[in-house]
Amino acid sequence: MIRLFFGTSNGGKLRELRRLVAGLPVEVISPEDLGRPLPEVVEDGLTFRENAEKKAAAFARFAGTWALADDSGLCVDLLAGRPGVYSARWSELDPPRGAASPACALGEAGRCELGAEGSRGLRDERNNDKLLEELAGVPDDRRGAAYVAVLALARPDGTIQASVEGDCRGRIGRARRGDGGFGYDPLFLPEGGEGRTMAELAPEEKDAVSHRGRAFRALRPLLGQLPFDKSERQG
Ligand code: IMP
Repeated sequence: MIRLFFGTSNGGKLRELRRLVAGLPVEVISPEDLGRPLPEVVEDGLTFRENAEKKAAAFARFAGTWALADDSGLCVDLLAGRPGVYSARWSELDPPRGAASPACALGEAGRCELGAEGSRGLRDERNNDKLLEELAGVPDDRRGAAYVAVLALARPDGTIQASVEGDCRGRIGRARRGDGGFGYDPLFLPEGGEGRTMAELAPEEKDAVSHRGRAFRALRPLLGQLPFDKSERQG
């Protein structure tokens, strides 16, 4: 077994990753398992990749093991890719209306610093309220969006072994439906979801179509070969 630290305070992401690694010789370690608070990493990258790699490097050094980090978000077509890298705290940190999300339109200036963890559930509710407000009165055929996830894998010394990206196209619904998943899932109707929101899919159905599931399947062959250096194997 190889120990893989997954540095996230997002319980939804952690649950999904634990499902996705099933069958691999990998033991997922969470911040809670280490019993030490996760170091704060300022997510000031302009792309999901930059943020994912910055987090993975910091978390590998913190845990002293291989580490995986996810940076992900929702990019709405009509909003020029917003909220993009701002997805987690969109309702608190709102770039000006019409400004393209840096994650989805490279070259667009903009930085944001994420502060202390607030109440994630409440924040998700506010973000979903904001999404409904921004798209009020917009017809179904102009409500297209994509979830994007980058997974970065760092070696125990904090250097990056690989980064992979996955996306999931869909449409933003008009009202919340379902109680699975997390974040924007109650409003996101994935392509291939037969009219159901992501929050109405069974966990394994979400994994089959989701941005995170797709990114993970690109990384899976590599994780199956870890460690490249036998001295890193434990147990
Ligand atoms: P991060 O932790 O900075 O990567 O923030 C990711 C944010 O994007 C989450 O807090 C959600 O708001 C949103 N997000 C990412 N992936 C998902 C997903 O699978 N379902 C719903 N929302 C997601």
